[in-house]
Amino acid sequence: MNNKLLKKFSIQPLRFQDVMAILKIDHKNHSQWPLRYYIKSLTSPHFYSYIARMNDITVGSMLFRISIHDMHIDRIIVDLSFRRKGIGGRLLKNGLFIAQKKNAINSFLIVSAQNKIAINFYTKYGFQIDAIEPGYYSGKDDGLRMKRLI
Ligand SMILES: CC(C)(COP(=O)(O)OP(=O)(O)OC[C@H]1O[C@@H](n2cnc3c(N)ncnc32)[C@H](O)[C@@H]1OP(=O)(O)O)[C@@H](O)C(=O)NCCC(=O)NCCS
Repeated sequence: MNNKLLKKFSIQPLRFQDVMAILKIDHKNHSQWPLRYYIKSLTSPHFYSYIARMNDITVGSMLFRISIHDMHIDRIIVDLSFRRKGIGGRLLKNGLFIAQKKNAINSFLIVSAQNKIAINFYTKYGFQIDAIEPGYYSGKDDGLRMKRLI
């Protein structure tokens, strides 16, 4: 990403007023998550949600939970038009940093075995396949559990 773009780019905690923008990104990217999850992430002390903004436009989000020493990444999504610019990486690094501050030791996630881009993405950031969950996605696609030390 060039310096000019980087200056206008920020990661911020999700606020109630951002939820519609996140739902729009989900919808546009055919990846709808239930509204109740976002509300929960704003109200529960164990849930964390961050958004990426560029030039005042919301372009991505990351949701995760921390339970004792484990960080569970529920999702990262970047708007299709803004992918491959390092935004997903910035969201992930921010999440890992927050989890580290909260004393998490391990980070886990489950990703579809078909989602090669996401597997590549998480591998780049040091995650390794830890287990296979057969039929995890509605009995069809297998899930890959990935893990890294924080
Ligand atoms: C996975 C996702 C969040 C990555 O976001 P992004 O902003 O495009 O990622 P980055 O630009 O930070 O890319 C970091 C690395 O991920 C990998 N990667 C990202 N997009 C890729 C692609 N299209 N093909 C192959 N590798 C890719 C590369 O290793 C890349 O590093 P590089 O650009 O130096 O080669 C984004 O593709 C997305 O929103 N996908 C749909 C939702 C999803 O599947 N989320 C993950 C499961 S919850």
